[in-house]
Amino acid sequence: MVDKVVKPFSVADRYAVVGNPIAHSKSPLIHEAFAKQTGQEISYERILAPVDGFEATVRELIMQGYKGINVTVPFKLEAFQLANTLSARAQDAGAVNTLIFNDAGITGDNTDGAGIVRDIEQNLNIAIAGKRILLIGAGGAAEGVIAPILAHQPQALVVANRTIEKAQRMVSKHLINHRQISASTFEGLQNQTFDIVINATSTGLSDTALPIPSSIFAKGCLAYDMMYGRETPFMQQARASGAQVADGLGMLVEQAAEAFYIWRGVRPETRSVMQQIRDLS
Ligand code: ATR
Repeated sequence: MVDKVVKPFSVADRYAVVGNPIAHSKSPLIHEAFAKQTGQEISYERILAPVDGFEATVRELIMQGYKGINVTVPFKLEAFQLANTLSARAQDAGAVNTLIFNDAGITGDNTDGAGIVRDIEQNLNIAIAGKRILLIGAGGAAEGVIAPILAHQPQALVVANRTIEKAQRMVSKHLINHRQISASTFEGLQNQTFDIVINATSTGLSDTALPIPSSIFAKGCLAYDMMYGRETPFMQQARASGAQVADGLGMLVEQAAEAFYIWRGVRPETRSVMQQIRDLS
């Protein structure tokens, strides 16, 4: 007698991005493009969690068999606290943007820093090693990129922030191992020039200009705004000062590629996906 072969019921592995608000998120588009390109069968949704309901949402998703999520504003800190296991880069960033659900429980990682470094070095073709770098801002966005930038050996990394105490606090965490990091006020930037200037403040959201002197942009400088989807006052000022300007779309796609790699073990090609997202906007 021949046994009847029963095919297992096959369902695509489920992933999602969780945030509040979430309607604007481009992550589903990006992950769908990655899945198509690599032949991976996954589904990827946008999920709006109540501001006080992140943990309950995560527990529900785990119950439903989701394999992982991306985490965005305002839940990156809560995701950090919720994870049973944290990668070294999540610990460095003090925040989590990628969760993995498996037999080991909830593992937290942070791919934001790897995303910006990869965008600068691979896509924009600018080496960080030996460069003078200015990071503007000392909130969560800035925190996530400090360790990955330092790991690439810049000559100097200056963190400038409106509230200098926050910059000093962030810098002090890294000073023991990295003497090239320092904090500055905006006024302290007079008479200094930088090869790479990164805007990690939220000023682009409100179209607010930063009180930074235009003399900070060295010849051939890269001015990088972590925001995407609009020309911010920072980008306008940098462009007018002769800098090469980039927005945060490359970082967004690269951090997603890193998350996709963690979940699926396959690294997608990113340039065509960036172009696809730009063409849509
Ligand atoms: P995120 O998690 O996106 O970094 P955040 O933690 O609220 O958000 O941090 C916002 C950053 O933008 C901070 O560095 C903030 O400066 P302060 O620490 O002085 O608040 C900066 N920022 C916001 N509005 C600003 C403005 N009008 N001028 C200068 N910096 C501003």
